[in-house]
Amino acid sequence: MAKHKKIPRHIAIIMDGNGRWAKERNLPRREGHRAGAEAVQAAIEACSELKVDFLTLYAFSSENWNRPKMEVRALMGLLEQFLKDKTPELQQRNVRLQAIGRLTDLPSGPLEQLHKAIEATRENNGLNLILALSYGAREEIIDGVKSVMRHINDGHLDPGMLDPEIFSKHLYTRYYPDPDLLIRTSGEMRISNFLLWQISYAELFITKKLWPDFNKDDLHKAVTDYANRDRRYGGI
Ligand code: FPP
Repeated sequence: MAKHKKIPRHIAIIMDGNGRWAKERNLPRREGHRAGAEAVQAAIEACSELKVDFLTLYAFSSENWNRPKMEVRALMGLLEQFLKDKTPELQQRNVRLQAIGRLTDLPSGPLEQLHKAIEATRENNGLNLILALSYGAREEIIDGVKSVMRHINDGHLDPGMLDPEIFSKHLYTRYYPDPDLLIRTSGEMRISNFLLWQISYAELFITKKLWPDFNKDDLHKAVTDYANRDRRYGGI
């Protein structure tokens, strides 16, 4: 791929279409999620190679808890296995793992693996891989408002000083820059409660490809598309 002047610093992905991928093959949905976990690996590799700084993946939404128990169990099992199996590779690729969301909602198995993987990769300074788990943007904003109110009540914040920059520091994403590029697979034209505050100026890239089919080339295509856009942030 040609060298790009404009590599997005932060890419966020809504990984959609695992179920349809499985259905097309007459496979159980969990097989679609398993194939989806493999596609996660490809996205990590492509972002590392392109020297993207941050990759945020919508791995499990607040709403996903409403899926049938068996599917939730399969997704949690996959997450735990993924973290167990892939930590050495994350290490080797200098990837630093982090997570956002109401993490304490997670069952103890995946939660423990998550903490282990975060701890093991803490010193890495390559790609920052951020998993959104039990994540919902409205919930994040509510948690942010509660945090702001605590700061005001404690006398640490003058309400008149509150502005977007300060509010950003009360969100789960306070350590990260806003995404430059938001990718959604499977052709749906929705944001689905993902990073509502942070994507205000993100470029959107929506592809019909189902997530398990989304490969390195597709990620390169999205980045090329992004590089050719003119970001004006409301200016001219
Ligand atoms: C959407 O497919 C995908 C999810 C519910 C979450 C994404 C999960 C993975 C990629 C697998 C596990 C992830 C990790 C990090 C190990 P869908 O089931 O909504 O698909 P559909 O809309 O076609 O039914």
